Amino acid sequence: MSTRIDVAGLHKGFATDKGPLAVVDDVSLQVEDGEFIAIVGPSGCGKSTLMRMIAGFIAPDAGHVLIDGVERTRPGPQGILISQHGSVFPWLTVRQNLMFGLNDISSKQEKAAVADHYASIVGLKGFEGSYPHELSGGMLKRVEIARALAVKPAILYMDEPFSALDALMSLRMRNELLRILERERHTVLLITHDVEEAIHLADRVMVLSPRPTRIQATFEVNLPHPRKLTSPAVQELRMAILKELGVEAEADPVDARA
Ligand SMILES: Nc1ncnc2c1ncn2[C@@H]1O[C@H](COP(=O)(O)OP(=O)(O)OP(=O)(O)O)[C@@H](O)[C@H]1O
Ligand SMILES: [Mg+2]
Repeated sequence: MSTRIDVAGLHKGFATDKGPLAVVDDVSLQVEDGEFIAIVGPSGCGKSTLMRMIAGFIAPDAGHVLIDGVERTRPGPQGILISQHGSVFPWLTVRQNLMFGLNDISSKQEKAAVADHYASIVGLKGFEGSYPHELSGGMLKRVEIARALAVKPAILYMDEPFSALDALMSLRMRNELLRILERERHTVLLITHDVEEAIHLADRVMVLSPRPTRIQATFEVNLPHPRKLTSPAVQELRMAILKELGVEAEADPVDARA
């Protein structure tokens, strides 16, 4: 395996009304090609800021990000970010949103077919011609996930992509993602507050500290897919990660932000 993402000594702070705010404090990490990394950490610690730096949307104050050995200074075509705040184009239908970015396909008909295929994968069959304002929040989130997957990016940056979905839909989307990754082997960076989701999906789970954030602990998830979430190995790992987050681990799944 080769190193796809190489992050070294990242620092980031913001100037605010109340003075300087240190947000990311010396983060270094390497992600191998095809690897799936989950990032968990307390709310407001700097997860989105870290991801936006790695994806090239904001510049670090110090340190560097190499993608395939090349310094990253702006968003590149090989990476797609699914942001926490959503970025579906309101003036385009579901199908048109999904066709957006399929620049490698020249035939409009073929683009529409790919769009419809991904709409159906995320459970939006029948809504291809609908506009975003006609959809629910969870459906909008699924449009965004489908749009990112349709492009088949080498790197998929996902910032809490499933948190607007109900438990059943979130589980369904996770399973779809795993199915797609089996075929297409994207490199994935996922931010989540759901520890179980992190263990379900990732090869490695990184726990970030409170702000200014750094990597507090890393857990390898050496469990074959499909992973049984009720298994003792998963539960043990979940408890260890929750403990690292300072959350009292209970028998039932809890939200790491609780
Ligand atoms: N552009 C900005 N200017 C000023 N402060 C910012 C900016 N972006 C983020 N921050 C601050 O940086 C801190 C970290 O924000 P960030 O969005 O990275 O946290 P997060 O870990 O993703 O939080 P959450 O779990 O709630 O999504 C917050 O205190 C936020 O107010
Ligand atoms: Mg965030």
